[in-house]
Amino acid sequence: MSRIVLVSNRVGDVSKAALAGGVVIAIADVLRARSGLWLGWSGKTGEKAEETRTTPDFQEMDGATIATLPLSHREYKDYYLGYSNAVLWPVFHTRLDLAQFEAGYYQRYVDVNRRFAETLLPLLKPDDTIWVHDYHMIPLGLELRKLGVNNPMGFFLHIPVPPAQLFMAIPEYRDLARSLSGYDLIGLQTRADCANMLDFFKNAVFGRILQDGRMRVFDREISVKSFPVGIDMDSFLESRPRRSREQPTPATRLIGVDRLDYTKGLPQKFRAFGRFLEKYPDYRRKVILSQIAPPTRESVVAYADIRNELESLSGMINGRLGELDWVPIHYIHRSTPRRMLVDVYQHSRIGFVTPLRDGMNLVAKEYVAAQDPDDPGVLVLSRFAGAAEQMKQALIVNPYDVEEMADTIKIALEMGLQERKDRHRALVSGIRSYDTFWWCRSFLAELDAVASGKTLPPFGAAGDEAAKKATIELAGLPSRLSSN
Ligand code: G6P
Repeated sequence: MSRIVLVSNRVGDVSKAALAGGVVIAIADVLRARSGLWLGWSGKTGEKAEETRTTPDFQEMDGATIATLPLSHREYKDYYLGYSNAVLWPVFHTRLDLAQFEAGYYQRYVDVNRRFAETLLPLLKPDDTIWVHDYHMIPLGLELRKLGVNNPMGFFLHIPVPPAQLFMAIPEYRDLARSLSGYDLIGLQTRADCANMLDFFKNAVFGRILQDGRMRVFDREISVKSFPVGIDMDSFLESRPRRSREQPTPATRLIGVDRLDYTKGLPQKFRAFGRFLEKYPDYRRKVILSQIAPPTRESVVAYADIRNELESLSGMINGRLGELDWVPIHYIHRSTPRRMLVDVYQHSRIGFVTPLRDGMNLVAKEYVAAQDPDDPGVLVLSRFAGAAEQMKQALIVNPYDVEEMADTIKIALEMGLQERKDRHRALVSGIRSYDTFWWCRSFLAELDAVASGKTLPPFGAAGDEAAKKATIELAGLPSRLSSN
């Protein structure tokens, strides 16, 4: 089996990560199953020339080699905070209003990708398979090709793809299309993302769909397919500490765990919970919402704004509705180690996952995985999370509709045991079938097939038995607010 070489901006030991993003979780799962090399940013920044070197530091983690590079302050500012998180992140999450198109960002973004490519070049072996991850690293593939690398090369985007017209608002959209064409395979989270990406190639750079389903872009033929990221359910459950410190709360708990990001729909979630307590006062004193929202990218202005908004909103709702012996919203602006979350999820009656836009959302999957099958809680999930394309047995909500979310909280709290068990069983079946190993295996099999000139059927077309079974089982469930 050829070696796998992974590249992403963020690298890390997921067991130590406070609240790792989906990328780190997914790659760490891949590397537990298959040895390889993982190159990324060390998380450090500095001023010395040493910060722009092309010789990485190495460390070993569970049989894999991790190679890391620091960033200079300017690179951190223009490549990471700037182009990655103040241009690509907002636009790809359909928040064009928050994008900051500043001169210099794009050039530094490409420069950092070139430095990563130059760093990787001497480490590569002829039969390595290269798998590049996420929006920070779009140009990396083309930079490697320019250096003469012909290895099979795949790219996976963990965040959503915006509609073509929005994508084309980015001044450098043609360059981004050109960079994407350097890969053999572009993997995306959902079928909707694939439709947007193909549309983008057609509209932006006259891409043409070929008879075998591949796309001809510039002078290359590439494949675009969806591979929804999953979790390794067993290892997530095994990660819980032997002695749990988590005590069941006297009140029934709704749980939210999201980085404090404007894409996560946190103000909408707080408003919906406040509205629920106003509309259904019998539930006051009996229910709480715990929201864990660790800080993230705080030097980007939009993140400071969302933090202020959330703090004033939770204060307002608690001030208006709280009592001496009951605080409705527990808002925790700190991270919690991932392994502690198993018990937190299990002791929460509702997993409340309401992003305005999200590539996948692994919290939705982890919440379901942590439930007791004999008395499971209910997942309330935004239709705009990639996970909603798979997790049709959750209670699906529109996060912009506060009334609907308030009513759905009541439905979830009052759902009978049998229905909760049926939904949970169907959801777990999907999580187990499309787990992290399926994701990795199917992406790499497709990359292998594409690189050798064959093609495989798209995700779902083969009619996975477990998924079919889950859908058939669900057909017998009551339909109220059921699937979408
Ligand atoms: C999302 C992105 C990841 C990123 C993570 C955490 O999940 O898709 O690429 O690593 O957020 O964000 P950060 O900026 O801290 O790496």
